Amino acid sequence: MSEWWRTAAIYQVYPRSYADGNGDGIGDLAGVRQRLGHIRDLGVDAIWFSPWYPSPMADFGYDVADHRGIDPLFGTLAEAVRLIEEAHDLGLRVIIDVIPNHCSDQHPWFVRGIRDRFWFRPGRAPGLPPNDWQSVFGGPAWTQVEDGEWYLHLFAREQPDLNWTHPAVRADFEDILRFWFDRGVDGVRIDSATMCVKDPALVDAAPDRDEVHDIYRAWRRVADSYDPPRVLIGEVWLPDPARFAAYLRPDEMHTAFNFDFLGCPWDAKALRRCIDDTLAAHEVVGAPSTWVLSNHDVTRHVTRFGRADTAFDFASRGARHGMPVDLALGTRRARAAILLTAALPGSVYVYQGEELGLPEVEDLPSSVRQDPMHTRSAGADPGRDGCRVPLPWSSDLEPSWLPQPSSWAALSVAAQEADPASMLSLYRSALRLRRCLDGPMTWLDLGDEVLAFRRGTVVCMINISPRDVPLPSSTPLLTSEPIGAFLPPDTGVWLLDSGA
Ligand code: GLC
Ligand code: CA
Repeated sequence: MSEWWRTAAIYQVYPRSYADGNGDGIGDLAGVRQRLGHIRDLGVDAIWFSPWYPSPMADFGYDVADHRGIDPLFGTLAEAVRLIEEAHDLGLRVIIDVIPNHCSDQHPWFVRGIRDRFWFRPGRAPGLPPNDWQSVFGGPAWTQVEDGEWYLHLFAREQPDLNWTHPAVRADFEDILRFWFDRGVDGVRIDSATMCVKDPALVDAAPDRDEVHDIYRAWRRVADSYDPPRVLIGEVWLPDPARFAAYLRPDEMHTAFNFDFLGCPWDAKALRRCIDDTLAAHEVVGAPSTWVLSNHDVTRHVTRFGRADTAFDFASRGARHGMPVDLALGTRRARAAILLTAALPGSVYVYQGEELGLPEVEDLPSSVRQDPMHTRSAGADPGRDGCRVPLPWSSDLEPSWLPQPSSWAALSVAAQEADPASMLSLYRSALRLRRCLDGPMTWLDLGDEVLAFRRGTVVCMINISPRDVPLPSSTPLLTSEPIGAFLPPDTGVWLLDSGA
């Protein structure tokens, strides 16, 4: 039990869009408390909460004004503490987001003008920022203040980057960790974890400098000083497997998100290569891998898998947006995909709404889109609003901060709960049965277009070919579609293997 994070299924709650307790159209902690049973019934081990802190919401909570409080939109600190206790009572652990790279421009340090805790610099010439770095959200990464100096923000201008060479920044974050660990939080998801340390000369824009590891070694000491030890989970987008794995050395983070898998197309060869590379990179450091299909930043996978081009990356999100989508096909593949994902060794993340098979809402009018990725790119990037539309709980869709399509009435929790063929029922079965899967995986060779592997006594087979594939005579435990003697295209199955 002590190393629960090695095999955990973790459900991501985006508080603004999970459940609205007071009817103002915005999700809140009261809503989460009313709907905790949904998460328990899914059969997951933990909840990860996207930021719930006081924030002007320029980046919907990823611009934190106070890491030790709760935004009044969501509720109060006392409610958060109750929520943590209630989750624990249901056997669910609680992970919260911590954002070390930047804070809000309404954070007291920034408001009071304590410049050495940020990156303030003079321009390189009148009217020109100190260097040519670009913000992840588009446009220059520098904003000029009244006296002519500029400050660095790798994201929106409302998110000034913190200066991690300053001891007060380090001390404050270690204190923030203790603040929440003392209140029962079981671990943290570390936002933009590779970006905190900058080239001191501000020349080399490449993120992921070696000095960043000192930060997480110090955090690990804090986490390990608790009983049971708390857990560190990194948001680490790095293409180089060795640099990625460095974050998972025994004295640093416990796990990190596997974005390679998230971006992988629905293609057997590509998936197999990704799985092998992931396992190999993790083995070196003895860390468990994580498997993620969707989160609050990317196009929902029902939509991705329903396109001709099923891959995801930020650079081409705009170009893929609005391409023809076959939602029935995407849904069928998403059903097979959860059987694949939940069968892999390591831990698995479920982003709220994927258990309902929600598609990306691609046709939100520009006037309701609010994500800075959309607004800062002058509309070139559709942004992330389409994966953040609030969950439909019942077929009476209620007004919310982003409107739900009327077709979502049929996808509501109430509509799916009693239907054994629904996506929700499939997720519940898969996440429950997953607990019986044990040990490492071994590939079975069923050709290039079928993913097949054994884990203990269970065989997982996913047919990514356009034709039926013969099935062994073993007993099916769970299938993503009805099957007979053959496994149809885009279908997954878990079989009880007698070992013969
Ligand atoms: C991470 C978050 C994203 C946020 C960004 C800046 O990538 O997942 O939602 O906008 O960091 O904090
Ligand atoms: Ca509300």
